[in-house]
Amino acid sequence: MTQAEKLIDALNGTFGRHKGYRASHAKGFAATGRFLPASPRAAVEIPLLRSEQPVFARFSVGGGKPAISDKSPTVRGVGLTIGSEVEIWSMALISAPVFFANSGQQLREFLAARVPDPEIGGPNPEKVKAFNAANPNTVPHQEYLKATAPCRCYSTENYHSGHAYGFTLGTPPVDARLLLEPEAGRTGLTDEELADVPDDYLHSAMLATLSDGPARWILKLLVANTKDELLDPTVPWVGKHREVSLGTVEIKELDAGNIHQARVFDPACIPAGVDAPKDEVFPLRSAAYAVSKSRRSEQRS
Ligand code: HEM
Repeated sequence: MTQAEKLIDALNGTFGRHKGYRASHAKGFAATGRFLPASPRAAVEIPLLRSEQPVFARFSVGGGKPAISDKSPTVRGVGLTIGSEVEIWSMALISAPVFFANSGQQLREFLAARVPDPEIGGPNPEKVKAFNAANPNTVPHQEYLKATAPCRCYSTENYHSGHAYGFTLGTPPVDARLLLEPEAGRTGLTDEELADVPDDYLHSAMLATLSDGPARWILKLLVANTKDELLDPTVPWVGKHREVSLGTVEIKELDAGNIHQARVFDPACIPAGVDAPKDEVFPLRSAAYAVSKSRRSEQRS
């Protein structure tokens, strides 16, 4: 069995196998829009981003359960492609600034500790506690989610890469994490609002937002300081960071055709001027996403 198959089995083991759905970020919907380059031009050179580009996005709730409540204390995600046939930057970002594992084995153990216990009807808290004690690097991700109210709408959420990419065409070259930051800032629901909204509120919230005009985010680089960890996406970067705006992602309408079910946001698809992250997790993703895609395609026919 390949490493990618083992990772997908681990996701299916915790969340179940659901016909036709992604093994992770199973619940979501898609939208279309465009990318507008920063003006004046960004100090970091990425030729693809010099001109306006089409954008396809899929917004999702983390985990492999298609019927998960939008109120769940898990990550929100966005899969994004910027560009068309000639060159595409494909990325999948999450609402937490850091990821929850720094290796394939840790990801599988994280999931194994959360396999629902039939007697409890959910994960066994003792197993989760023991995993966390043995894997303290995974805790900042969980702490962030505990401390952060679910977003009001996907349009008011921050999305992070966790990974540090290399940007080689600027002077000097830099390492940076990506942040897709809502133009109007992040806003979460109050406890009262959270109690009031339905389990599927994120779709209607997005429709309401778009009926007033496009939703906009700034695609930014958070440039690494000298002591920042570049090889471990679970480690927070603390303090101030130089920000470089690459441009604006503008979402105009929802994807009525449901073509997102067939799409894969393959993180390995990166444009000239961007170097792949060098951590242990990044190279595992492309093959895992492909296995998830082939399983959901098989299950649909
Ligand atoms: C070894 C590490 C990882 C594994 C095994 C993994 C696994 C997966 C799988 C199987 C999917 C569904 C793919 C599909 O069927 O198209 C997925 C989607 C996604 N992942 Fe990961 N993932 C990993 C790391 C990450 C990281 C580091 C991030 C971001 C920081 C991330 C963010 C997302 C997002 C946003 C989606 C939804 C994309 C969409 O809408 O299609 N993942 N992941």
